[in-house]
Amino acid sequence: MRRTSSAARTGSGAVIAGAGPVGAPGERKTVRLRAEEAEGMEVSKGAEVVAEAEEAAGAEEPSRYAPEWLRLREPADAAARAAELLGPLSTRLAERPGAQRGFVVHDLGCGTGSMGRWLAPRLPGAQHWVLHDRDPYLLHFAAVGAARAAADGSRVTVETRRGDVARLTPAALAGAGLVTASALLDVLTREEVDVLAAACAGAGCPALLTLSVAGRVALAPADPLDADLTEAFNAHQRRSGLLGPDAVPAAREAFAAHGVRVLVRPSPWRLGPGARELAAQWLRGWVGAAVEQRPALRQRADRYLAERLAACAAGELEVVVHHDDLLALPGRPDGEA
Ligand SMILES: C[S@@+](CC[C@H](N)C(=O)[O-])C[C@H]1O[C@@H](n2cnc3c(N)ncnc32)[C@H](O)[C@@H]1O
Repeated sequence: MRRTSSAARTGSGAVIAGAGPVGAPGERKTVRLRAEEAEGMEVSKGAEVVAEAEEAAGAEEPSRYAPEWLRLREPADAAARAAELLGPLSTRLAERPGAQRGFVVHDLGCGTGSMGRWLAPRLPGAQHWVLHDRDPYLLHFAAVGAARAAADGSRVTVETRRGDVARLTPAALAGAGLVTASALLDVLTREEVDVLAAACAGAGCPALLTLSVAGRVALAPADPLDADLTEAFNAHQRRSGLLGPDAVPAAREAFAAHGVRVLVRPSPWRLGPGARELAAQWLRGWVGAAVEQRPALRQRADRYLAERLAACAAGELEVVVHHDDLLALPGRPDGEA
């Protein structure tokens, strides 16, 4: 979901950073790695990660994505990702020269590392994950919580890189076997996605870019306000030139400009009574963003949110939030796609 901005609280309960717009700038909790965690990490940059986390704790800018939000959505993300893209991806990885030696994966906008925990154990072969994010606070969680073993038991190692993924160059991805990201494309601009596609195409490796919002939601039971809120939320996502629901079509075009073939598959969140906490947070964020975008909705939205949260708590609400996953497969060296 999109970046946080100015105050917007709608209905009961606060919005977690990342789920939607939050109120006054939140305080960032101090997070230190315990010594044994840092020592136990299979991370070449353990000391740097600790230093970065401490630096982040003292930084002025609060995290745009609270670890609590990323943790809350992780099971729904895992269930939603389009597993059918793993077949063509695994085939392509196995065809790489030197495939038996393993491969390097760059996870862009890794957050707390949810994509690695999902993907690394689903792919065979030794893997070295390079975890990229501009938020050092999240990077340390990603390093500590990274997967340790691949599908065939091979070793998985990680390192972290703090920086802006919108400035990636093909050189930064040199030697990459795979680029991946989850819930990233929709918070980038078209120019940033062009840069990312150019870097992936230049590196000649596949890219699995999952969970971009599609701009469609379905709530059962339906409410007459659903459509207005959807429209206002989508407009909020597009503010400041961010792609929001246009992310996947834009990425398709960006890869096509480099002659890269793209497969797209749906990856909807299905939030029923078993995911009440996530559904409630999503509702608060979704309605909050819509009202921030169209303040005239506030009164009706307050009533709507209260009723939706009550139905959610009673296990009487089903929400489908549509996303798409994209697999970009650059041509093989022999020219065959
Ligand atoms: C919605 S979160 C998704 C995190 C993680 N991939 C997941 O699926 O849980 C988006 C992440 O992208 C990072 N991010 C957004 N724009 C970025 C940029 N331009 N450069 C580096 N990181 C970025 C944020 O800090 C955040 O961790």
